Amino acid sequence: MHHDYEYIIHNDGSLEKKDQRLAKELFSIEHARDARKFHRQIPGYRMTPLESLPNLASMLKIGGIYIKDEAQRLTLNSFKVMGGSYAVYRFIKKYLGAEDRDLSFSYLTSDECHERLKDVVFCSATDGNHGRGLAWASMVLGLKCHIYVHKDTSRPRIEAIRQYGASITIVDGNYDDAVRRAAEDAERNGWYVVSDTSWDGYTEIPTWIMQGYTSILLESQEQLAGLGIIRPTHVVVQAGVGALAASVVGFYTALFPENPPVFIVVEPDRAACIYESIMIGDGRPHSVKGDLETIMAGLACGDPSPIAYEVLRDNADIFIRCRDYVAARGMRILSCPLKGDPFVISGESGAVPLGILYSLLSEAEEPELKKALRLDSDSMVFMINTEGNTDPIDFRRIIWDGQDQVPKEYRTKV
Ligand SMILES: Cc1ncc(COP(=O)(O)O)c(C=O)c1O
Repeated sequence: MHHDYEYIIHNDGSLEKKDQRLAKELFSIEHARDARKFHRQIPGYRMTPLESLPNLASMLKIGGIYIKDEAQRLTLNSFKVMGGSYAVYRFIKKYLGAEDRDLSFSYLTSDECHERLKDVVFCSATDGNHGRGLAWASMVLGLKCHIYVHKDTSRPRIEAIRQYGASITIVDGNYDDAVRRAAEDAERNGWYVVSDTSWDGYTEIPTWIMQGYTSILLESQEQLAGLGIIRPTHVVVQAGVGALAASVVGFYTALFPENPPVFIVVEPDRAACIYESIMIGDGRPHSVKGDLETIMAGLACGDPSPIAYEVLRDNADIFIRCRDYVAARGMRILSCPLKGDPFVISGESGAVPLGILYSLLSEAEEPELKKALRLDSDSMVFMINTEGNTDPIDFRRIIWDGQDQVPKEYRTKV
C-alpha cells in the first residue's frame, strides 16, 4: 500500500453501475446557461483562463493537462463566488415572486429592489472562500451578511471577508460546528442561510450554489472546444463537503451521458468524509470527526453535503485521500513549471488535483489502479485551480520555505 495516498476504485467505468438520474436533473445544460447569463452581468466579469501544460503532460506521458484558473475569478482569488452569487440571485427571484422572469443586474442594485429586500439578512459558515464570495455578493447587492468562521481560520482569510463589510463570528470548534452555529443563529434572528452544504430539509440553496459552479464548466467547455477538444477524458476534482465535485461530476455526466470522463475525487487524508462514506458503503454520507488538520483549509470539512454525496456516489469512479505534501508539491509544480508551460498561482486546495495526478503518474504501480485510471497518451485531463494564494503567508512558507516537503521515498527519481 502506498503512503502518499489511498484510493478506492468505486466504479470500473461501466455505465450499468452508475445512476445518472439526479446528475441529469440538477446539472442540465439549461441550469448552467442560466447561471452563466447571470454571471455575465456582474461588473468586471470575464472568463478565467484555461491553462494548458503540454510539457508536463508529455513528461507524464499523457495527452494533455488543462487547468481552469479560478484564482483569477473577479477579484476574489477563488471559484466560490460563482456559487454564492448565483444562489443569492435565485433567492431574490423567489423572494420577490419573480421566478418566471430574469432580473437584470441593474434592477438588483436599484433603490427599488433594495427597498423590497430591506428585511433580508444573509448568513453562512465558511472555511474562508465561500464567506468571502457571499460577503462580496451581499456588498455588491447592498444586503447585510453575517459570516461564521471556526477558531483555526487564519487572519488573512478573516480579513479578506471583513473587507466586504460582513460581520464575523468566530466559533470555538471546527468548520462543521460553524455550520451548525450559523443555522441556529439564523433561526433565532430570522436570517437566511446561504450555505454551500446541505442537510435534511435544506437543499434548495445548496443546489443553486452547485448549479452556479457549472457556469465555470460552460466556460471551460467553450475554451476546450477552441483547442479542438470536445470532451476531457479525465476529470480530477477536489472535495470538501463535495458540492464542487458534485457539480463537476454532474455537469459532465449530464453533458456526456453515454461516454462520461473518468471522475477522480481527491480529499485531504484527515478530512476525507466522502472517501470515508464510500468506504463504509451503505449508501449514506458519514462524518469524519476531530480537528480536520490539513493545509488544505478549503477542503477541511468533516460532514459531506448529502445531496452532493448522492451525485458522487452514483457517478464518480475513483476516490482518493492524500497527504498534505501532495498538495504542496502541486503548488510548487504550478509556481515553477517546466519551460514553456504557464505559471499558475495555486493555493493548497487549488493545487491538490495536479499534485495527485503527478503522484499517480509518477508513482502508481498497482496494476488494478492503473487499469482503472486508464491514463495514456490520448488522455485529456481537466481540473480546476480553485484558489490562488488565499493565505499569502502559508503560500510563501510552502513555496519559499519548503514547508510540507515531500518525504525522501517519494521524491522525484528521474
Ligand atoms: C479553494 C477551494 N477549493 C475547493 C473547495 C471544495 O468545495 P466543496 O466544499 O464544495 O467540496 C473549497 C471549499 O471551500 C475551496 O475553498
